[in-house]
Amino acid sequence: MEVKAIEKSEIAADATIIAGVLTGLQPAPGSESVFEDVDERLLDVAGFEGKAGQTLTVPHGEGVVVLVGLGDEGTFESVRAAAGNGVRAVKTGDAVCLLASVAVDGATRAVVEGLVLGGYQFRAYKTPGEEDPIVESVRIVDAEPDEIGAALIGAEATNLARDWTNTPAMDTSPVDISRLIAAAADDDSIEVTLWDRSKIEEEKLGAFLGVAAGSDRPPVLMVLSYQPEGAETHLGLVGKGITFDSGGLSIKTAALMEEMKDDMTGAAVVAAATIAIARAALSLRVTTVIPLTDNAIGGNATRPGDVLRPADGPTIEVLNTDAEGRLILADGLGVVRRYEPDFIVDVATLTGASKVALGDKIAAVFASDSDVAEKVLLAASRAGEFFWEMPLFKEYRKALDSNIADIKNITGSRYGGAIAAALFLSEYAGDGDWAHLDIAGPARWRETAGEQVKGGSGVGVRTLIELARMLAESDG
Ligand code: BES
Ligand code: MN
Ligand code: ZN
Repeated sequence: MEVKAIEKSEIAADATIIAGVLTGLQPAPGSESVFEDVDERLLDVAGFEGKAGQTLTVPHGEGVVVLVGLGDEGTFESVRAAAGNGVRAVKTGDAVCLLASVAVDGATRAVVEGLVLGGYQFRAYKTPGEEDPIVESVRIVDAEPDEIGAALIGAEATNLARDWTNTPAMDTSPVDISRLIAAAADDDSIEVTLWDRSKIEEEKLGAFLGVAAGSDRPPVLMVLSYQPEGAETHLGLVGKGITFDSGGLSIKTAALMEEMKDDMTGAAVVAAATIAIARAALSLRVTTVIPLTDNAIGGNATRPGDVLRPADGPTIEVLNTDAEGRLILADGLGVVRRYEPDFIVDVATLTGASKVALGDKIAAVFASDSDVAEKVLLAASRAGEFFWEMPLFKEYRKALDSNIADIKNITGSRYGGAIAAALFLSEYAGDGDWAHLDIAGPARWRETAGEQVKGGSGVGVRTLIELARMLAESDG
């Protein structure tokens, strides 16, 4: 989407205008003059009250005005949601948006994010027909022109991750997705390295290979490296790239398997964030490691009871092949540590238990210490994403003791599953600053509302960009 700032005086007579209305039919700041021209009887007939989520399109001059409800007050969230609801009601290829005139911190970003995220559509597998045109260009009144660019980078990167998540697993084999990511990272400032099976064997990534053993589609490990001159801080990212999670021999039920094309969302998120960080030319080094494989049930699949040897760290007794994310991340964390980053973040659709704990709109954060947690939570709140800290409660660690190996990959208890998975990962994350983001819940939005569009969410992309910005700035 092309987004530009515009003066109020430049609005064309036949424009489609997105204007804000508060409950009680109060025009939002900036929308007063447009609202004055609207016949209140139309609002009455349609039952439009300015409530959050409501939209109504009415004639205005030679064009139309899309009235969007902001609810009781203009906040960052209500403005972003209104922009998302508004853009979906637009039936033309371009529009003018008045929502940035609402006096809230970050109004420009809220509007750009709402428009770009809320306007997202995934049409690749639909027969082209009579659908409404995609909104290709929006002019924003009262925007801070300097803030548009950064907001666009974050929102577009989120949509890139959404595209990768939404693409069916049949078209995102490890090789396919590595090509898609490499093509998107086709920026001189990102170096892309691909490891094929023989290189992965040479590097002895036994836990990763154990998951890949059940699939005919060969695994790939990607390393993206962004190393701008003068960067001091070094961020290491690792993303879970299970290109389809059948559960392996501990096979999933049909209902639980339905959405398992999403299981590479962590990979999509760290890749898209790395691309965005490079586009924004942030001054920090980033090394991003992405292990990509199916979790399938071929004749050579790892069996429950088998023991895997990651390149670094404890040997693993695999008692449940469906707890595969932690296996590939054990090796992913081992690889990223070879580059000696100052701060490691892994992102994964790791456990159904995190969904039980936090529902499907909030991601779990586990951190090596409270400073790290605070940084991630601050980044998330700046990004307008919902994260909640969970404890790396050491007393639960002994439940992972194995009879025959150094650690087992499940506790055998139904309780505390997200914590057990995080404790497992902590064995491979080293002693430095590390955060683990379990995004199993919010990796997919269940409904379309505001900036959220049903399907892959790209959650985490903007938090990682904000975190990178914070780490870059602490360079001093
Ligand atoms: N990919 C799943 C986790 C998941 C579940 C993501 C639902 C999104 C929605 C993961 O690989 C998995 O299967 N985890 C198991 C772990 C268990 C066997 C200890 C789970 O959560 O049930
Ligand atoms: Mn699984
Ligand atoms: Zn999985």
